[in-house]
Amino acid sequence: MAERPSVWTVVVAAGSGTRFGGAKQYLELAGCRVVDRSVAVAAQVSDGVVVVVPAPDVSSEAAKLSAAAVVAGGPSRAASVRNGLAAVPLDAAIICVHDAARPLAGADVYGRVINEVQSGAAGAVPVVPVTDTIRRVDGGVVDRSTLLAVQTPQAFRGELLREAHARAGDATDDAGLVEAAGHAVVAVEGHSRNIKITRPDDLAAAEAWLAT
Ligand code: CTP
Ligand code: MG
Repeated sequence: MAERPSVWTVVVAAGSGTRFGGAKQYLELAGCRVVDRSVAVAAQVSDGVVVVVPAPDVSSEAAKLSAAAVVAGGPSRAASVRNGLAAVPLDAAIICVHDAARPLAGADVYGRVINEVQSGAAGAVPVVPVTDTIRRVDGGVVDRSTLLAVQTPQAFRGELLREAHARAGDATDDAGLVEAAGHAVVAVEGHSRNIKITRPDDLAAAEAWLAT
């Protein structure tokens, strides 16, 4: 039987939560911190998890988090991912990147993106249809049937993700960097409840999902 390729996940939790109004990654969501939820699901599907936190929190979080490594983030999300990648073993065949701010991502979504990469894709991202009506700032409604919202976890062939980060600056997500490096990234079904905690109302929405 072929050996399963090793899977590592980088959970980025080094943001400052400007729109939320504070460090949202440490808030409790139904009795468990947002970052702990994200790390727990990542651990279910990974051989190892690297968590990236704000530099002043590294030692306190290393004591709290159950992770292979806890490292300091950088000034942008992309810089934080790069710092996390540096702590992932070089032989990790598949590397997932996940926003700690999406604590409701399930093992099913990880399974879908990992399977695509295992089957030969350079990368895979979960997407959901856009349900809001979207309007351009300069006027005019955008046809939302042409739009998809991209979530995390995103999975990539390890060496391609490292290469993309080594050559590039700051794309909004890792899939953008890998595509800019010339590789095709496939879309899989995301989940409507896999919301990103961005503003205070989102925490209440996540609590409501957990209660259902
Ligand atoms: N992130 C990070 N390092 C940064 C910026 C963001 O690790 N320098 C992480 C956040 O902790 C979060 C994820 O990237 O888990 C998605 O970012 P976002 O939702 O924008 O969180 P924040 O950057 O913290 O929020 P804001 O943009 O409102 O400041
Ligand atoms: Mg941000």
